[in-house]
Amino acid sequence: TEQNKGESDPSNFVETMKKQNRKVVIFYGSQTGTAEDCAERIGKQCKKRFGVAPLVLDIEQCNMKLLDQVPEDSLAIFVMATYGEGEPTDNAQEFWDLLENPEYSEGNNNLKNLRYFIFGLGNSSYTYYNWVCKTVDEKLTCSGATRIGELGMGDDEKSLEDDFEAWQEEQLWPLFGDALQVDATSQDSSAVADTKYKVVELEETEGHVYSGELGDLSVAEWGAKKPYPAPITSRDLLSASDRHCLHLEVDISNTGMTYSTGDHIAIWPTNSEDELFKLAHSLGLEEKLDTIIHVTAADETSAKKSPFPQPTTYRAMMRHYLDICQIPSRDVLQMLVRFAPTPEAGETIKKLATDKDEYKRVVVESVRNLAEVLDYTGAVFHIPGDVLVESFSRLQPRYYSISSSSSESPNTVSVTAVTLKYRPEPTPERTVFGVNTNYLWAVHKNLNDDDEAIQVETEYSVTGPNGAYFDDKLNTAKLPVHIRQSNFKLPTDDTKPVIMVGPGTGVAPFRGFVRERVYRKKQGKQIGPTILYFGCRRQDEDYLYNEEWKELFNELDDTSKMINAFSRETDKKVYVQDKLKENGEETWNLLQNGASFYVCGEAKHMAKDVQKAIIGFAKQYGGLDDAAAEEYVSKLRDTGRYQEDVWA
Ligand code: 2AM
Repeated sequence: TEQNKGESDPSNFVETMKKQNRKVVIFYGSQTGTAEDCAERIGKQCKKRFGVAPLVLDIEQCNMKLLDQVPEDSLAIFVMATYGEGEPTDNAQEFWDLLENPEYSEGNNNLKNLRYFIFGLGNSSYTYYNWVCKTVDEKLTCSGATRIGELGMGDDEKSLEDDFEAWQEEQLWPLFGDALQVDATSQDSSAVADTKYKVVELEETEGHVYSGELGDLSVAEWGAKKPYPAPITSRDLLSASDRHCLHLEVDISNTGMTYSTGDHIAIWPTNSEDELFKLAHSLGLEEKLDTIIHVTAADETSAKKSPFPQPTTYRAMMRHYLDICQIPSRDVLQMLVRFAPTPEAGETIKKLATDKDEYKRVVVESVRNLAEVLDYTGAVFHIPGDVLVESFSRLQPRYYSISSSSSESPNTVSVTAVTLKYRPEPTPERTVFGVNTNYLWAVHKNLNDDDEAIQVETEYSVTGPNGAYFDDKLNTAKLPVHIRQSNFKLPTDDTKPVIMVGPGTGVAPFRGFVRERVYRKKQGKQIGPTILYFGCRRQDEDYLYNEEWKELFNELDDTSKMINAFSRETDKKVYVQDKLKENGEETWNLLQNGASFYVCGEAKHMAKDVQKAIIGFAKQYGGLDDAAAEEYVSKLRDTGRYQEDVWA
């Protein structure tokens, strides 16, 4: 086998720990890069505070069966995000499955030598809050491992950053030294600038210079590791308001990629030119945008040699590889203090880095990205390339609920996306633009160049690296995509009733569901009652797919219907949950008859209120008391009959 050539196995992290004399291993389960970022930050602090160099590893790259062999005098730190409805991140799926094995059950002391810290990232608007970190913790302890300190949990609904810092200050760092038998270093922590990557500027290069190409070319199949540039085959503007809602269809035929109704499509964004220039300006990099750079791991023993394809240019890096619109953490601001060109700018950025309230107001609530924070200081920061790379996460794909039916159109995936833009409350003079939805809008404009009615508010380079996002033959744009499977699925028994609640773009997966039911009916299958609750502002404004519903529901029998809540047509707001309550008894009876209930859309208010309504029905029509009614909904969830596809 491959391992027989005397080469070391990169997934054998225990061997690496021993060989490189690393006493600490940090595993991250990350979907959008936040957990990875937290893991890196812990790694840095290990060095600064204790002079200990840890291994920071993508949990997917590790053979986690070897956890039982981590030396007794070492420590593991888990940083695990929960994704969607209590699901592990893609890169933690294998570990998650592994923990299902009988070795990791009560009384099996196979992890008795393992000592670990754990921090979870979640969002309390979701029902399964931090489910992954809680479950991993439970599995590890019941397998005999010892957790040090309290289980840390970050809540993105409030302030993940505060929770993460508090856990570090109160749990991790006070206990770390003792656990590892090391003393804190006396170094001045702010003086060390040890970045993960080194950036070298090249005069010229013979080889290929990457201009934003995505994906790992060594991977054969299209997918998460190699997004497919999918041609857009159809476009439609669904909403007449200033909040543009686009329906886009992309072709995935002959790619080996497949989807099933209810899955998600990941679209890999491009940053806007406006943001790129803002950043270049705040760093004094305007003249150097096309300078060729080589970005490599500072630590030669590191498994990850470079964070994105090399060599590249500042421009391509900022346009395609770094998430330059993200809100900088206080650690990042702290790192930049010493590059302040004037004492005043230094004071301003230092205050933001150290004063939580100031940071919250100026950065978080005002949604300022790094360029905007630097602009706020009033100075240009000439920071070295390695610090620049260190300041951002890798640009991550954005996920959308697929709005087509895989049975009806297996090769065409449709997306329903509304352009996101808003004015943060503390600074209403500024507009914040969603990175990817505004990109999609710019693509739409580019394909309708002469349409004066389409106004682009933030400029993008839409043709991609070397024109890769344009198909000359088809004369259409392409979007780099992959498919992500979800658990959001219709019941296997078509005769069961289905109730769907999806206001706004929350209706996206339900267009897929309804089309799927109609398709199956046309195939001769018997289809149970299909009920869709849709909410929008006004019938003539943002009633998505207005022309389609009537025809679709005509295909189903008269137990099926669409019920609308128009929130801005009357003095009093009417929401989907209000309509649901009008039909409370019917809903309850359908649930008693085995209906599956689905909610898609905003998590914190809408999905919570809808759940409250259902609990109310269990009390009112089912005669259950408070506890029993809550339990009833929990049971529905556990048996897959109450499913959510919601976002914070
Ligand atoms: P509003 O904007 O008029 O308040 C899609 O965005 C629809 O969802 C709109 O009609 C919107 O109404 C409505 N909506 C806003 N908040 C909601 C909530 N908490 N519950 C249900 N629907 C809501």
